[in-house]
Amino acid sequence: MRTGLGRFPTTRLRRRRTADWVRRVAAEHAVTPADLILPVFVREGTDTAEPVAAMPGVSRLTIDRAVLAAREAHAHGIPALALFPCEPVRVKTEDGREATNPDNLLCRAARTLKDAVPELGLIGDVALDPYTSHGQDGIFKQGRILNDETVAVLVEQARVQAEAGCCTVAPSDMMDGRIGAVRRRLDEAGLSETRILAYSAKYASCYYGPFREAVGSAKALGAADKRTYQMDPANGSEALHEVALDLAEGADLVMVKPGLPYLDIIHRVKAQFGVPTLAYQVSGEYAMVKAADAQGWLDGDKAMFEALLAMKRAGADAILTYAALDVARRLQG
Ligand code: PBG
Repeated sequence: MRTGLGRFPTTRLRRRRTADWVRRVAAEHAVTPADLILPVFVREGTDTAEPVAAMPGVSRLTIDRAVLAAREAHAHGIPALALFPCEPVRVKTEDGREATNPDNLLCRAARTLKDAVPELGLIGDVALDPYTSHGQDGIFKQGRILNDETVAVLVEQARVQAEAGCCTVAPSDMMDGRIGAVRRRLDEAGLSETRILAYSAKYASCYYGPFREAVGSAKALGAADKRTYQMDPANGSEALHEVALDLAEGADLVMVKPGLPYLDIIHRVKAQFGVPTLAYQVSGEYAMVKAADAQGWLDGDKAMFEALLAMKRAGADAILTYAALDVARRLQG
């Protein structure tokens, strides 16, 4: 800690705030385009951007449109895209088997994007919810999500994504033991360079509502919840246990999700483990800011930026945010 702090009137902290240059010199944290990862919803079809009602400014993009977004993101210094498929109802099944189809929507998107913008990071979401008729992230039998049966499917899902061009796979399902199992499967398949971004501390949060609308899992899920696998918002220390296990199993990067309501968790994870720690400013956080902005109740651009800066200050090394392109554009303009 700083020592020798003086007292008023010798010390006047406002002296450090009275000019723009000194405020900039004294700034401890910053948000730059390199800190931002853009989640992208992909859909079937061509030349279409279908707006997501609860997420103003966000659309489900056909693969050709996703290429344009990827080029723009890359041009603005955004390091990576996180891909989420919005599957038509006809491919959703009880067991979510489309997840392991090497030609599924996400894999075709990854192949095309990798070819179009090879320098851009591509992060594949590993979980079954876009593919299951019940909207759960795993295999669902007799009212229960089966852990080990689900992991057996996830490892193949991760493999097909990696083979299609995702340099990083991101298990967001919260099954036990899936990071180690995915690591072993990738290594066996000769994919030892594929990274794993673990959604390690993912809470059972109501802030995912607009996302479930965007990928079309909301209707399938109905009134059900994910509390038997996602974390209880009441718990903090348990997040450290989750992160420790994922790191031991081979996670390269870890994530805390949601972001702003969980700054304490971001801070504790970064302080304890010192590994690359990402935060996810989730759909509901984005929607709240946009809604208040639309009402004229606050300045949405400023509120979004302040939220991202707060996550950086808490210890996040990067943030997944639907505002990534907007923010990067403003930072550069
Ligand atoms: C699904 C998944 C979810 C999100 C990312 N991956 C939703 C959920 O777990 O129900 C949420 C992202 C957001 O709300 O922006 N495995």
